[in-house]
Amino acid sequence: MSEPAPPLIHQLAQQRDLVRRLQSEFRGRPRRPRPQYLQRLNADVHAAVAKLQPPGDDSAARVDLINRLQTLVAQVSSSAKLQPFGSSVSGLHSAGADLDLTLVTEVGAEMPKGVQSELVNRLAELLTESEQMESVQARPNARVPIVALQDKKSGLKCDICMCNMLAITNSQLLRAYMSIDERARSLCFTIKFWAKRRSVNDPYRGSLSSYAWVLLAIHYLQTCEPPVLPCLQALRGLYWADDPRRMIIPNFDGRSFDCSFCSDVGALREAMGTLQPANSDSVAELLVGFFRRYTREFDFVKGVSSIRTGSFLSKKEKQWTTKEAGVRGHLFCIEDPFELSHDLGRVIGRDTLNDVRSELDRASQVRAPTRPPAPAPL
Ligand code: UTP
Repeated sequence: MSEPAPPLIHQLAQQRDLVRRLQSEFRGRPRRPRPQYLQRLNADVHAAVAKLQPPGDDSAARVDLINRLQTLVAQVSSSAKLQPFGSSVSGLHSAGADLDLTLVTEVGAEMPKGVQSELVNRLAELLTESEQMESVQARPNARVPIVALQDKKSGLKCDICMCNMLAITNSQLLRAYMSIDERARSLCFTIKFWAKRRSVNDPYRGSLSSYAWVLLAIHYLQTCEPPVLPCLQALRGLYWADDPRRMIIPNFDGRSFDCSFCSDVGALREAMGTLQPANSDSVAELLVGFFRRYTREFDFVKGVSSIRTGSFLSKKEKQWTTKEAGVRGHLFCIEDPFELSHDLGRVIGRDTLNDVRSELDRASQVRAPTRPPAPAPL
């Protein structure tokens, strides 16, 4: 018999102790920007986040598109179901954001790659024949075989991939984090917006995906003092809302992953509310802290950002010290919460690391309290 897990509140208190120890390793005390500057930044951030929100009929349009696509998919495979993932699930989608869907079949993730590619081709043919979709493109040989399309009715762009169970689950993990504290959502929106505006949001060109930036933001919120977010994967006990046992998920490539996390947001919010002191920073202060983290505190040479542990790991323990085939390098290491061998930063090369870091530097300049009117970070 295994030992019963300590109560949630004790586990959260332990996580806070860990964060306190981590903080003591950062050198130098952060200088606080002027209050007027923070007030202005906070107002700008809230205005930008409000402007980015999808219109009121967005959810209905997405559900309607999924239903129409599901009807078409049924002609290819009667047992296949379309499931959303990505920002539409995590709540981090802005107006007009692409809809990410994955096809889930009874055979689940064990479907051989050849069958997936065939399904992609058949689906693309069917979608092209339909009067409803345009710009249909099949990519049967991609790592995750995919069909891309645009819906004529809503104008929404949509990618349909095969059996990406891990993406469904990591989107649910992100959604749980976003539900714990409203500031998490605002911070992630702001960082995604900033990364797009500053052209550091394209993994195909050597910068980071939105998903990677969101993981960095969550990690910052787990490791600022006092923490805004707990580490959901490190909590143990009766708090798994989906299943009290561990959640093992098979993926499209036949590998299985431990995807357990505490998703009892109600219990978490209640327990976190009793821990003092609470973090009362504004979103502007958190944004300033985020840019400070990736300009002054994070160790790019040795460190790995890991929301799975709510801590920093070393490249050495991850064996990310040398460049592997097909990887540009391990220069800005971000561990995927479930697929632990996946470094989200492996798309970054020496040249693009400089671009990303100089954008982080540029954004962090705004917090300097002595400078005259600072440039807007966004
Ligand atoms: P994106 O990076 O496209 O995030 O990943 P997003 O928030 O939807 O991007 P925007 O709004 O279009 O800018 C979408 C999803 O793909 C999965 C995750 O589930 C993520 O939420 N994903 C992405 C991975 O699992 N691994 C990756 O390396 C990248």
